[in-house]
Amino acid sequence: MSVNQNQEQRKQVLDFMTSAHQQFASVKEGANASYIPYLASVPSNLFGIAVAFTDGEVLEVGDTQYEFAIESISKVFTLAKVLEEIGKDEFKAKIGSNATGEPFNSVIALELHNEHPYNPFDNAGAIATVSLLNAQSSDDRWNQIISTYNLFAGRNLTVNDEVYKSESDTNAHNRGISWLLKNSGNMYTDPDQACDVYTRQCSVAITCRDLAIMGGTIANHGVNPVTKKQVVSRQNIQPILAEMMMNGLYENTGNWLYTTGLPGKSGVGGGILAIVPGTCALAVFSPPLDVHGNSVKGQKVGAFLSEKLGWSLL
Ligand code: DON
Repeated sequence: MSVNQNQEQRKQVLDFMTSAHQQFASVKEGANASYIPYLASVPSNLFGIAVAFTDGEVLEVGDTQYEFAIESISKVFTLAKVLEEIGKDEFKAKIGSNATGEPFNSVIALELHNEHPYNPFDNAGAIATVSLLNAQSSDDRWNQIISTYNLFAGRNLTVNDEVYKSESDTNAHNRGISWLLKNSGNMYTDPDQACDVYTRQCSVAITCRDLAIMGGTIANHGVNPVTKKQVVSRQNIQPILAEMMMNGLYENTGNWLYTTGLPGKSGVGGGILAIVPGTCALAVFSPPLDVHGNSVKGQKVGAFLSEKLGWSLL
């Protein structure tokens, strides 16, 4: 493609991002997550859209510089780290790659499957994934995780201490899940340590731009499009995308796939990530969520842009 054609195409993407922002800014559906007190206090009208292309160009519209909690989107990047360490076969045997059809923090789902996790995105599988990292201490485990995220983002990320405190004060349910995993032999370190490191990873502060670049690394077959560093090996991209496609938006994943045709991942902080392999990643930030914990505006933007720009893989 010539330089002019490329510029023309990027302008078209930016125009559609701008019209998506205008069109959906007034949507009033959904509500901030309330079970984590800090998240309830984030201004609901914040709304940012960023797209990172595999050549490193990043387009941004709206509140793309506001730092929000990564929450469950972190599960994608910890998954990448653990896949690098143990490989996809062992990972599939220990954690899994199917949906439970139940909410992300369901204890019933765990009980129905002999307390075995089903995938890395439900809390049970996510906490077990953290526990699989070969680490000497809690600090070591944490450092491995945050340095992986830094490579994905291409900058040093930090924990939002207010979110971490707010989540730590209210994560008894997740600690219960950790101990059930211990009970069934599916917890590979101290359960409270795994839950604490998991809570910390959910509290990492990112901007919409960061999220687009992190996703852009997956779209770019494991190479960060901005720093050009290989962060995850190419062979581990397929299992990551498979998990996103299968359960990235929990019980609403089918509806998301129906409208976008793309692997996605949501977090209760209001972020949503979609990957267009080989092309770009879309990141949206807007706090109000549907009942399953997915950003309402994020889903609308994903469907709109995918249709307008022919991004669907299906
Ligand atoms: O464990 C939790 O409940 C939160 N820290 C993260 C949950 C989450 O983001 C689910 N996704 N939409």
